[in-house]
Amino acid sequence: MSHLSSYQAEVELVGISRNIQRIRELIDQVAETGFNVIVCGETGVGKELVVSSLYQKSNRLGKPFVKVNCAALPDTLLESEMFGYERGAFTGAIRTRRGKFEQAHEGVLFLDEIGDMSLPLQSKLLHVLQGGDFTPLGSEKQFKTDVWVIAATNRNLKKDVEEGNFRNDLYYRLSTLSIYIDPLRNRPEDIPILIEYYTRKYNQELNRKEAGRLSPDAIAKLSSYPWPGNVRELQNVLQRIIVLGESEETLDAMLSSAPNVRCDESNGLSPRAPGVLSEIMADNGGRLDLADLSLKKIRKKAMNQVERDLIGHVLIKTGWNRSKASRILKISYKTLLQKIDELAIVPPPELA
Ligand SMILES: Nc1ncnc2c1ncn2[C@@H]1O[C@H](COP(=O)(O)OP(=O)(O)OP(=O)(O)O)[C@@H](O)[C@H]1O
Ligand SMILES: [Mg+2]
Repeated sequence: MSHLSSYQAEVELVGISRNIQRIRELIDQVAETGFNVIVCGETGVGKELVVSSLYQKSNRLGKPFVKVNCAALPDTLLESEMFGYERGAFTGAIRTRRGKFEQAHEGVLFLDEIGDMSLPLQSKLLHVLQGGDFTPLGSEKQFKTDVWVIAATNRNLKKDVEEGNFRNDLYYRLSTLSIYIDPLRNRPEDIPILIEYYTRKYNQELNRKEAGRLSPDAIAKLSSYPWPGNVRELQNVLQRIIVLGESEETLDAMLSSAPNVRCDESNGLSPRAPGVLSEIMADNGGRLDLADLSLKKIRKKAMNQVERDLIGHVLIKTGWNRSKASRILKISYKTLLQKIDELAIVPPPELA
């Protein structure tokens, strides 16, 4: 059962834009009602954070919070993940397993990336939402659960409904209330306050007494950038600034290495290149251990990340012409080859 990590729970929904203010109001209003909610918005805008705030404001706090990522599993696995199975239901079902619906009893079931769920499974979900009961695979027993279902998606579900890829009735059932989070580029007034919030937070995590502030120039530059990866991308850039400083060169390199990167483009760059601190945390089961925070080590990691993104970007732009790329990067051909090797930069399949 995946209870909320304390990390997410500590974060506030920061922002002064009309959009975020309205969302805060909605969270307060709806948290008590238990209406089905669907949270929509681009990647990294804060959908999971809104879902976790709903849970925390609700009277289900303290009961299970169970998340299912509907995009992560193939259909049959997702089905058994959601509804569970009886021992012997299929080859490999060596013991009975409780599904997420059962685990979430009296709490919240968070269906992330709901737009990726197949039509047959959508029907099963609808059935449960209407009648409240379900049968685990291979079982004869019916179960009833009391769960608050909150869904999220970065797809345009209305369009999916029009195109026949998402069930109309399920859409209406799930979206008694729908909360749309604007992309960061449409609410630039939130950027300085997010910068302030996260620089303070990261400095505290690094145990730095002097919470270094960014210069007005740097804040202005970051505020006019379109942030295709939204708040998650802003977090990554801030983590790097904390380590590398905010010189114009560093900022330009960071902002030019990330944009135009879309999840659907196989351009060799990672669309969600995780920030250094989150990478260290991920290696460490979600904790930020003071023992891991040698500045030298982090600087090295951050430099590698920046170099990997930047070199990868230039290589793509030059169609993997390495001598051209080395001239643009102003390093020798030999150094470039070494870096490609060391940083494990690989060409996209069409250039390999
Ligand atoms: N308004 C905000 N204030 C503070 N932190 C925020 C805000 N919005 C997002 N974040 C932080 O940004 C990060 C990304 O947000 P989150 O994971 O909720 O995005 P998401 O919409 O679920 O993204 P994805 O579609 O990629 O799953 C999280 O660490 C979250 O806490
Ligand atoms: Mg999410």
